[in-house]
Amino acid sequence: MTLSRYLAKKTVADLQTEATDGEVLRRSLGPLNLLGLGIGAIIGAGIFVLTGTAAAQYAGPAIVLSFILGAIACAFAGLCYAEFAALIPIAGSAYTYAYATLGELFAWIIGWDLILEYSLGAATVAVGWSGYIVSFLRDLGIVIPPQLTAATGTVLTLADGTTATALFNLPALLGILAVTALLVVGVRESASLNGIIVIIKVAVILAFLAFGVSHVDAANWVPFIPENTGKFGEYGISGILRGAGVIFFAYIGFDAVSTAAQEAKNPQKDMPIGILGSLFICTVLYILVAGVLTGLVPYQSLNVPDPIAVGVDAIGLAWLAAVVKIGAIFGLSSVMLVLTYGQTRIFFTMAQDGLMPALFKSLHPRFKTPHVATIMLGTIVGIVAALTPISVLGELVSIGTLFAFIVVCAGVLYLRNAQPDLPRPFRCPLVPFVPIAGILSCLYLVSGLPWETWLRLIIWLAIGMVFYFVYGRVNSTLLKKSRV
Ligand code: ALA
Repeated sequence: MTLSRYLAKKTVADLQTEATDGEVLRRSLGPLNLLGLGIGAIIGAGIFVLTGTAAAQYAGPAIVLSFILGAIACAFAGLCYAEFAALIPIAGSAYTYAYATLGELFAWIIGWDLILEYSLGAATVAVGWSGYIVSFLRDLGIVIPPQLTAATGTVLTLADGTTATALFNLPALLGILAVTALLVVGVRESASLNGIIVIIKVAVILAFLAFGVSHVDAANWVPFIPENTGKFGEYGISGILRGAGVIFFAYIGFDAVSTAAQEAKNPQKDMPIGILGSLFICTVLYILVAGVLTGLVPYQSLNVPDPIAVGVDAIGLAWLAAVVKIGAIFGLSSVMLVLTYGQTRIFFTMAQDGLMPALFKSLHPRFKTPHVATIMLGTIVGIVAALTPISVLGELVSIGTLFAFIVVCAGVLYLRNAQPDLPRPFRCPLVPFVPIAGILSCLYLVSGLPWETWLRLIIWLAIGMVFYFVYGRVNSTLLKKSRV
């Protein structure tokens, strides 16, 4: 078998035909649904949890600048995603774009890598969601046994000062299972519920901004960029950069819109609206929240799991604190929903290509959703969320996502050269500057992640290679066609 076999590509024309052939998903999503999917996937644990830690430990009030840096990197990648999603409206997202540009082996690597972004992303957010649910229920007088609220083996300090070892995280498991059930029933139903959740979470954020802004004490912004401690990443300019690496997680999700391409009514026009529109709206909200939050309280006090609630305490409105908690619970649930959805659609595409078993593409006769895949995936993601601590999950999600972004930016560069005349419904502006800037900014953010995360990524990709050579290479539809 020659090297060229592994680099076999699908043509864009083939991919465009595939969108309408074979097992067909129902085209039921309009531009507002897609915008909702994007916002649904983006606003979550990043803003509700990580903003505080990143401000307290790395950037201080200059976390606002970290958010601007993160947004710039994502905007470059977002423009590249928009070009591809309109040109090749297939549910596989970066996996499909790699198939059209770099060939099958790279496509497989990216498909495998995307499991980190989507499945592990959903698991990470489920753990954050569990924290908010447990605390909210406690406020209502309902106490879940602590042993059932954290990753297996976590040592918990109980209210009476004694310690206990956690068995598993039950709410995280139940949260993912609920999302799974919804996704089996239908994408339109899921999108409608997602739309309602998005309205609630955006309303909660706007309420926080509206009530918070008049309580801002400008003294909390001074010094805006705290002096570096002498260590890289602890305040100063390097702290802003480190902060950007951490809060990058908050932006993940706009690309999930591209996994809905096969269910969009008019993907050529609406994909760019969904991807870029959701990214723009969330960027504006994030920068405002970061500014108001660091103006409400000294940044040092934000190193907590619920930093927005700390900000609300400074405003002094008890009802707003409850509302913010509810907003976070809703907000995080839609992230779980959209990321789990995206994962099933990527597997669906990989199964159509023969690189994943056929059960991933079998559709429910009535609901027209990939029900078997959804249930299997939901169960596995739920178990991972129940057993694993959030700290291990989060950075792996970021490195996996950045890797995919780099490939998508490189893909735009490649295809513009290889097939300059393809009719592109949306053209990324300023090529080659934007894709190159996208690659460099993502590489920069990757370089800020710890070596253990790199190692975990490499191990994960190595496992993926074994799968490819044992299963995908043998069953690849493209290979079978080329043998005929
Ligand atoms: N951006 C998503 C979040 O912050 C993944 O939860």
